[in-house]
Amino acid sequence: MMNDELKRQAAAMALTQVKPGMRLGLGTGSTARHFVDLLGVQVAAGFACICVPTSEATARQAAALNIPLSDLDTLDRLDITIDGADEIDPQLNLIKGAGGALLREKIVAAASDLMIVIADDSKLVDALGQFPLPIEVNRFGLGATRRAVALVCAAHDCAGALRLRQTSDGDSYVTDGGHLILDAFFGRISQPEALSTDLLNIAGVVQHGLFLKMCKKAYVAGADGVRTLSNGN
Ligand code: 5RP
Repeated sequence: MMNDELKRQAAAMALTQVKPGMRLGLGTGSTARHFVDLLGVQVAAGFACICVPTSEATARQAAALNIPLSDLDTLDRLDITIDGADEIDPQLNLIKGAGGALLREKIVAAASDLMIVIADDSKLVDALGQFPLPIEVNRFGLGATRRAVALVCAAHDCAGALRLRQTSDGDSYVTDGGHLILDAFFGRISQPEALSTDLLNIAGVVQHGLFLKMCKKAYVAGADGVRTLSNGN
């Protein structure tokens, strides 16, 4: 089965958790896009909800589907955020941010009572780090921040490069918040909590793509159907 069909199946399962009147966080990426599409069909049929998007791309998609949108200035808390992931470990710790939306994704997930991740089973890993870890940094002082990030990565046994993310045109990739992204190719992240702390201690680091103890439930689709993974953290 194609990955895209699996992503849609995981998204459809998450939709079963959404009740009328809920306040939802809408993730970013190809899997979250399926969820927004499916939610749009429900909304067109009269389903009531209010949603906070995690990127300008998701906001545009949701607006085109007439999904009611709000923000975290207006809403204190959200009931559920539904989002994709780049890697999911056995404790449901995640790497996110391939789509560059990690900062808003983390803010929205942190403001939600429940974060549900939807994915195809290629995202399951024994340990995080095969996928490059996105580190969002301020444009100002990039050189100094990059050197500090490189030192932290080396101290955490980063096996590979630290690359400034670029667009296909060769320009620096700029996030919705106007920041840049450094992608760190670890190979394996053995102490994610300590790495998180060390990265956030660097002045120019805005956020990183480690989502630790944030996700309590995941719907992961594979050839045998959609599995529900959960943990009580
Ligand atoms: C965007 C993300 C995405 O959720 C993550 O990259 C997964 O994307 P996809 O569903 O396309 O595989 O974190 O910042």
